[in-house]
Parts: sequence; structure tokens; C-alpha cells
Amino acid sequence: MGSNKMRATIATVCAIGLLAALVACAPQANNPSTEEAALNVAPQPDQFGVIVAEQWEGLYPNQYQTWKQNEANSPESGKDNYLETYPELNTMYKGYGFAKGYDEAAGHSYTLRSIAETPRVNEKTLANCISCKTPQYTAMVQQEGDSAYAKPFADVLAVMTEPISCYNCHENDPTQLVVANGFFADALGDSASTTPIEAQVCGQCHNEYYFNGQTKATTNPYVGTEAMTAEAILAYYDQLGFKDWEHPDTGAPMLKAQHPEFETIYGGKGSRMAAAGFSCADCHMATEYDAEGAKYASHYLVSPLESEAQMEKCGLCHDDISGEVAQWQASVTSREHEIAARIEDYIQALTAKKDQLDANTLAKAQQIHRHAQFYWDFVMVENSEGAHNPSACHENLDKAERLLDEGFALLA
Ligand code: HEC
Ligand code: HEC
Ligand code: HEC
Ligand code: HEC
Repeated sequence: MGSNKMRATIATVCAIGLLAALVACAPQANNPSTEEAALNVAPQPDQFGVIVAEQWEGLYPNQYQTWKQNEANSPESGKDNYLETYPELNTMYKGYGFAKGYDEAAGHSYTLRSIAETPRVNEKTLANCISCKTPQYTAMVQQEGDSAYAKPFADVLAVMTEPISCYNCHENDPTQLVVANGFFADALGDSASTTPIEAQVCGQCHNEYYFNGQTKATTNPYVGTEAMTAEAILAYYDQLGFKDWEHPDTGAPMLKAQHPEFETIYGGKGSRMAAAGFSCADCHMATEYDAEGAKYASHYLVSPLESEAQMEKCGLCHDDISGEVAQWQASVTSREHEIAARIEDYIQALTAKKDQLDANTLAKAQQIHRHAQFYWDFVMVENSEGAHNPSACHENLDKAERLLDEGFALLA
């Protein structure tokens, strides 16, 4: 939205003013107090070339304090265990790491802990898994190129100290917004000029990706928003012959969707709010004012329904945004449950019949398992429970259902 550009420009002017003032007064301060001394030290990059969040506390106290607030969104704050909410997942993800543990996401402060504790990694895991967890690894990839992706996971994780912070979205200059993950900048292609930068910086991690078989590089299965639909992504993986794992019961070459928030909102036709020009920040970063009346963007990333300032803004067009969101979510979620049960039935039916099918029919039946489960996964693992784009979610669930109808008919 236009207002964001405006705010970014104003912020730039203020920040340049501040930096100039600091530089100008630094040499004259003969006996600075400890506090002044701390403020007079220009922020310094760490060994990875990253200026860590703490270094910006003096210059950007509002952004820093609200960034710190993300600690409230902890893994202990009542997160869903998806393997319990959707017990069918134990069958659907059988043979893959996600069947060992799959909890709802926590806030950005916890990325290093989550990745260190997940039961999904093992001694063969590579550092590419750390791609969206810390700016220090992002800087390592920027400096070393693709070879950084193939390093051993444990060695790299051991030296990382900073969870997601300023550098991920601003690099070392908080007055600009930058997509620091080069792989996502490549995947946006020309769409970078037609999607708000306040969405791209979030989309650089909240997206669907895979690891390139040769280079091990984190890679998105598309170029441009047009190709960011579940259907186009499936076609891409099919053409590549890519699979995340083979299902031990049906023998199908399976795919696991990650967290396609960006694709769900901006892919294909996009959501209605995206068409109206809204960015992720417009819904997840409230405009706030400090004690001196200075305006800033809250860096505490919460549901818009949990922010009074946001609710006021939504109220300009929505009479009852909480009620609408609840309805969109309920309609998507109830279908997710129905279809998960059908996928589990299909897995059992195919497993029982598999040895009696001719090679062509078996391959077709396995492909239906792969495709139907991917359409379902693409909706379920998207973190908004359907709110981000209810119609796209329903379309993907429709496709899963049609495939299952076809599959059951094939096995009958
Ligand atoms: C996850 C991405 C992300 C991280 C991490 C992040 N920012 Fe931001 N920042 C943004 C976005 C997006 C905006 C623009 C918000 C808008 O215009 O609605 C922004 C705006 C700003 C601005 C412009 C003024 C304002 O408040 O709108 C400053 C200054 C800033 N951030 C500083 C920081 C600092 C300092 C840190 C680390 C403590 C940080 N940011 C971490 C995404 C991020
Ligand atoms: C550098 C990668 C990265 C960037 C950039 C990023 N995120 Fe995230 N985000 C994550 C990861 C990883 C998690 C899950 C953390 C965990 O569970 O340990 C997460 C979690 C979240 C959560 C909490 C989820 C929950 O269910 O409570 C929200 C909300 C969120 N991100 C919103 C945003 C928004 C909005 C932006 C842009 C302003 C953004 N993120 C940018 C990687 C990123
Ligand atoms: C039109 C407003 C809107 C836009 C744009 C938007 N979101 Fe959301 N987002 C929501 C709503 C509404 C929810 C559901 C909140 C709830 O259940 O309380 C949500 C939920 C989430 C969640 C789950 C965490 C939570 O608090 O429930 C994440 C993560 C998230 N959004 C990330 C993003 C990212 C990343 C983008 C941009 C690619 C984005 N959102 C764009 C409105 C928006
Ligand atoms: C300028 C008017 C306007 C504002 C402001 C607005 N919305 Fe919307 N929003 C719409 C319209 C129009 C739709 C289409 C569906 C409908 O009529 O409810 C929509 C749909 C949505 C959807 C469904 C997903 C989609 O894009 O199709 C979500 C979620 C949503 N809005 C969230 C929000 C949130 C959260 C806020 C406040 C941060 C907000 N909206 C502010 C006009 C607005």
C-alpha cells in the first residue's frame, strides 16, 4: 500500500538524521556517561557480518522492544500437536520425519531452539535446514554461495546464536527492506515488481521449498507468482521426478508441503486482500505510537485479531472480522478433517490391493495418493487455517476430493 512506502521514507530520513548526529558528536564527548558511551558506539557486525538485534536497541528502541515481544509466543504457550489434532497424519506421513513430531509453529525468538529440539533431524541432516532460522546462516550463504547448504547441520547450528532478527528483513540497514534469502528473490523473478516488499520479506521464509538434489540448495519450485499454485507446483515436482520420501505402505513417491503462506496469498489469482494491495505487514504489524508520539511498526508479529490497532483498521471495511475469520477457518478446517479420513481410508485400500494391480494401474493409484495428499497438505500446513484465502483453500480441497473419488473408483 502507498502508505507503507511513505512511512519507510519518513523512517529513512529520521534514521539518517540520527546516525549523522551520533557520528558528529562522538569525537567531542570527552567523558561520556556509560549510557552515552554505549549509544555512541556505532553498531558493529559480528563474525558472520551480521549486526545483531541488540546492537540496534539504542537507535531503534520501539522496533527492538516489539521484536523482543515475540518471546511471548513460546512453544509452551499452548501449541497444537498436529499428530493429535489430525491422527490420520500418523498414516499419511508414515516413513517420514514429520510422523515423529509435528507441532504448531512458535514465534521468531524460538527458531534456534525449535530446530535444535525437533525429532525430525538426524546425523545425515544438512545445514540447508537452517535456511530460515537465523540471519547468521543467511549471511554465510550470501558469502559462501551454494556450498554452505551442503555443510553438516550440527556443525553449523553449533555456532549460530541469533534467532530471526533485523538482518533477515533489513540486512544491516533497518531503513530498507531486503529479501536476504537469494533463493526466494530468484523465485520471485519479475513478480518482485508487482508484490509489496512488505510481503516479500515475510514470503522469503513463509513459502514452499525443496532442496536441490545435486547442490542441496534451498530452492522454490517456481518462478513468478503465476506459478505459485498447488497445481503448478505439483506439475513442477512431477516433471522433476522429485519426491520427499516413499510411502512404506502404498509405495507412492510422496511430497511434503512446507508453509505456503506467500503462495496462498499471492500465488495465481491471489487473495482478495492481496488484490486490494495488502501486505503481510498490513495485517501482522500494527502501526503504533510511542510515549513521544513517534509512529512505528510493531515488530511483535501476532494475529490481527489480537491487536486492537489492527481491529480498528479492519473495521473500516469488515463489520465483524473475528466472526468472518472464524467462519472461514471453520469451513476449511472441517473439510480438512473429512478429507484426512478419506485419505487414510484410501491408503489402507491401496495397501490392501496393491499386489493385485497391474503396473499401470498401480502407478496411477500411487500418483493419486501423491497428488491428493499434496493438495490436502498444502491447505493444512498453511498457518492461517484457511483465513488467508478461503476460496483457494476450498479449490485445493476440491481437487483432493476429486482425486480420491477417482482413486476409489480405480480400486473398486
Ligand atoms: C521479519 C521481518 C523483519 C524483522 C526481523 C525486522 N523488521 Fe523492521 N520492518 C519490517 C517491515 C515489514 C517493516 C515495514 C512495516 C510497515 O511499513 O508496515 C519494518 C520497518 C522497520 C523500520 C521503519 C520504521 C517503522 O517502524 O516502520 C525500522 C527502523 C525497523 N523496521 C527496524 C528494525 C529493527 C531494529 C529490527 C531488529 C530488532 C527489525 N526491524 C526487525 C520487517 C522486519
Ligand atoms: C528468516 C525467516 C523468516 C522470516 C523473514 C519471517 N518468518 Fe515468520 N516464522 C519463521 C519460522 C521458521 C517460524 C516458526 C518458528 C518456530 O516455530 O520455531 C515463524 C513463525 C511465525 C509466526 C508465528 C506462528 C504461530 O503460529 O504463532 C508468525 C505470526 C510469523 N512467523 C509471521 C511472519 C511475518 C508477518 C513475517 C514478515 C514481517 C515473517 N514471519 C517473516 C520464519 C520467518
Ligand atoms: C488480510 C490480512 C492478512 C494478510 C495480508 C496476511 N495475513 Fe497472516 N493471518 C491473517 C489472519 C486473519 C490469520 C488468522 C489469525 C487467527 O487465527 O487468529 C493469520 C494467520 C497467520 C499465521 C498463523 C499465526 C497466527 O497468529 O494465527 C501466520 C504465520 C501468518 N498469518 C503469516 C502471514 C504471512 C507470512 C503473510 C504474508 C505472506 C500473511 N500472514 C499475510 C491475516 C492476514
Ligand atoms: C478497504 C477495505 C478493507 C479493509 C480495510 C480490510 N479488508 Fe479484509 N477484505 C475486504 C474485502 C472486500 C474482502 C472480500 C471478502 C468480503 O467481502 O468479506 C476481504 C477479505 C478478507 C479476508 C479473506 C481472505 C481474502 O483476501 O479473500 C481476510 C482474512 C481479511 N479480509 C482480513 C482483513 C484484516 C485482518 C483486516 C485488517 C487488518 C482487513 N481485512 C481490512 C476489504 C477490506
